[in-house]
Amino acid sequence: MSRKMKNKVINNLQIERIAAEGKCVAHYEGKVVFVNNVAPGDVVDVRVTRGKNSFMEGEAIVFHELSKERVDPFCSHFGTCGGCKWQHINYELQKSYKRQQVIDQFTRIAKVDTPEVLPIIGSNKTQYYRNKLDFTFSNNRWLTREEINSGETFEKNALGFHIPKMFDKIIDIEHCYLQGGLSNEIRNKLRDFALKESLSFYDIRNQNGLLRNLIIRTTSIGETMVIVQFGEDNPNQIELVMQFLKHNFPSITSLLYIINIKKNETYHDLEVNTYQGKDYIEEKMEDLKFRIGPKSFYQTNSEQAYELYKVAREFAELTGEEIVYDLYTGTGTIANFVAKRAKSVIGIEYVEAAIEDAKLNSKVNGLDNTSFFAGDMKDILNDEFLKNHPKPDVIITDPPRAGMHEDVVNMLLRLEAPKIVYVSCNPATQARDLALLAEKYKIDKIQPVDMFPQTYHVENVVRLTLKS
Ligand SMILES: C[S@@+](CC[C@H](N)C(=O)[O-])C[C@H]1O[C@@H](n2cnc3c(N)ncnc32)[C@H](O)[C@@H]1O
Repeated sequence: MSRKMKNKVINNLQIERIAAEGKCVAHYEGKVVFVNNVAPGDVVDVRVTRGKNSFMEGEAIVFHELSKERVDPFCSHFGTCGGCKWQHINYELQKSYKRQQVIDQFTRIAKVDTPEVLPIIGSNKTQYYRNKLDFTFSNNRWLTREEINSGETFEKNALGFHIPKMFDKIIDIEHCYLQGGLSNEIRNKLRDFALKESLSFYDIRNQNGLLRNLIIRTTSIGETMVIVQFGEDNPNQIELVMQFLKHNFPSITSLLYIINIKKNETYHDLEVNTYQGKDYIEEKMEDLKFRIGPKSFYQTNSEQAYELYKVAREFAELTGEEIVYDLYTGTGTIANFVAKRAKSVIGIEYVEAAIEDAKLNSKVNGLDNTSFFAGDMKDILNDEFLKNHPKPDVIITDPPRAGMHEDVVNMLLRLEAPKIVYVSCNPATQARDLALLAEKYKIDKIQPVDMFPQTYHVENVVRLTLKS
């Protein structure tokens, strides 16, 4: 098999099931074949794009039979845009595949005793559920095969999303079903205005161009933050763009801009300028208000974040007497959410601006039993820290996709908190960490939550209790 298979076509391959990261699995001559953008039940001809000794990867080039599990994708950009790869699979099945992913990762990687994985908590909204989108301006629009073959000349400027695996190609988005409110209108009108005024769209290869990136954040109480990143420090043109947004969208509550002449789009280290309104937006959850600044993380599906936090709080079984650590606290959302039911809560996170928001969020909500610390988890959660702070009764941990650093896992094993609630957006790294924690902990609850309909992503909450 191996490399010789590259570009070969395998005919009439039966797609069997969904595996990790949303890829589908089939078998050919005893070897696994991973295929993207198909559904279990499809029968397809596959061109092999990668051949290894143990597996192959391929793309479907001819569909002979379509799965009964398929539904019609609702978005015109489906198939090109990398955003919602599962639109062709009905939502009930998406949920069951997500739950199955948790089961598979726990069986293959964690290899520890687990209780039954609870039915996934689905999202009521399966469209327009995101509160944040990040669009890129580019002078190198992705052209479809038909456009290229037509021989016509097309507008090359675009405002939209990166094509998967192509850092320099942007799909021009006409309508995105991920974010509601003014999102589509702001993006489209701003693009039209920029084209009319002949403002330059960013050239990522040559690292120049005025308009670089547009971030839109919304909240369930109707607030909107818009951040424009400029790749050139041109005060007149910046003024023109910001005036346009201010006048055409008076309901933007926080209108901000950043001048970013660095090589990358990240702006954690850059000054954010407030053009109009506040320098934050507010979200509400139960009786709490959360302030979200331009540099702060906030869960991108607000309604499901509430479901997720309720699960975490319920798993923590707080009585008002516990010392709680909220690791990877972001803007302290979980810490503040559980604070009224705990004796005290300590939140740790490495983005300093987020920690400032976390403190502010406690203050705004009249919570005086929280404290927050900024630093890399593996460095800050050390013996010195534990000498100066009470030991935790409950640890809630919500690390990024990479999971916890091994030093952090080892520290949790040394801390021996009676309960750990582990929230994760990546069941594979969660399973890896659980395999280590199994030395002292048993898993007694597993609750997947769907934060991202139309994608293969799944959030998962696990409760661990210290073995006696
Ligand atoms: C999945 S988010 C969780 C945020 C928060 N629990 C929430 O629900 O809003 C993970 C957080 O971990 C932070 N983070 C990532 N790596 C870190 C590290 N090594 N040390 C401390 N915090 C880290 C990120 O900045 C991010 O805020």
